[in-house]
Amino acid sequence: MDILIVGSGGREHAIAAAVKKSKHADKIYCAPGNGGIAGIAECVDITAMEFDKLADFAEEKNIGLTIIGMDDPLVGGIVDVFEARGLRVFGPRKNAAIIEGSKAFSKDLMKKYGIPTAAYENFDDVDKALAYLDTQKAPIVVKASGLALGKGVLICQTIDEAKDAVKSIMLDKQFGDAGKEIVIEEFLTGREVSVLCYCDGTHIAPMTSAQDHKRAKDGDQGLNTGGMGTFSPSPFYDSDIKKFCEDKVYQPTMDAMKAEGRDFVGILFVGLILTEDGPKVLEYNARFGDPEAQVVLPRMKNDIIEVMEACIDGKLDTIDLEFEDNAAVCVVLASDGYPLAYEKGKEIHGLEAFEGKDDYFVFHAGTKAADGKILTNGGRVLGVTALGSDLKIARQKAYEATEWITFDNKYMRNDIGKAIM
Ligand code: AMP
Ligand code: GLY
Repeated sequence: MDILIVGSGGREHAIAAAVKKSKHADKIYCAPGNGGIAGIAECVDITAMEFDKLADFAEEKNIGLTIIGMDDPLVGGIVDVFEARGLRVFGPRKNAAIIEGSKAFSKDLMKKYGIPTAAYENFDDVDKALAYLDTQKAPIVVKASGLALGKGVLICQTIDEAKDAVKSIMLDKQFGDAGKEIVIEEFLTGREVSVLCYCDGTHIAPMTSAQDHKRAKDGDQGLNTGGMGTFSPSPFYDSDIKKFCEDKVYQPTMDAMKAEGRDFVGILFVGLILTEDGPKVLEYNARFGDPEAQVVLPRMKNDIIEVMEACIDGKLDTIDLEFEDNAAVCVVLASDGYPLAYEKGKEIHGLEAFEGKDDYFVFHAGTKAADGKILTNGGRVLGVTALGSDLKIARQKAYEATEWITFDNKYMRNDIGKAIM
């Protein structure tokens, strides 16, 4: 069958690469795609928020399955639009994608169903939020409830700083409408782990673990970004923690969503923090992580289309998820300046070095093809992933491969996966 992937980042490139390996995939389209995805899929000039145009395209081309990679269209209800037109689509409906679209919703869900998470309060009134802060201790975390490109979380070292954060989110609308409602939450410490799970509304199948590096600079300094690099698996996610999460987090979340009449079908991304009091949920996302997908998907043995179809059909219990007994590290090459202002349009050299190598991947995020060249076109430009028999080897290979690529203003963190050495 022909497949349509919606999105344009490194995550969608990793999804496209996995789909290409499927024995069920014929022609692959990606809307809107990017300069690298164009190497394995036909890029279609429709943006991810043009639901009707995308559905028209899927109908016209007789697409057998559409895979939604990004959060905005999911939260906006693209799956409902496709389903109403009888089109097969992988991702949660709007009433389930709210688990990512509203942190206030997800916190209330966890509280109601006893899923471990940081203590918190939700506010849609500035004065009440400020008064509440007077009763709290710092450090404390202030979050815009809505989607804010992964940047809507402010860790505040003092109560005054937290008050400024509340004002800048709610009054100055730093994150636009995403900040109409906020969550103020207890500051937790521990290692973070991302576990992405396939879900069919009833059953949930967690994939291998990964760890992201969200801050822009080495040593977890600098601003929060979409993610500067990942490794998989996380050695900190041991069998006891895994068992705890299966019993207390993953299945309870599926059951909670079902009990609320919001059956979750698609990828549930569980962002965990491993505290001294046990694992707690920091956040849920309703899609693959980026750049978590770039280390998890290359390690998956299953045919991705078969797994996704089982999710849509409510038959995930018939699938045994399997991952290679190896490790992967992804280092993001960004435009210097990201996540603030940066320059675009720089020619990228060295991409051909990855051709024909099974254990190295270069996933394109912010690139575009022009006049036979590949140019930088975003903050996160490329994700360089290497597989190795263990994390140390994978890390060494990934950093070697970052040297193959050159472009003006290339920037990367040098300590991705350093914690595992
Ligand atoms: P979120 O989008 O909610 O996952 O938050 C983004 C990042 O902010 C997380 O990956 C953590 O590094 C940090 N963070 C969020 N909530 C907390 C918390 N309660 N305590 C400490 N760090 C947090
Ligand atoms: N890497 C974090 C995210 O995809 O939200």
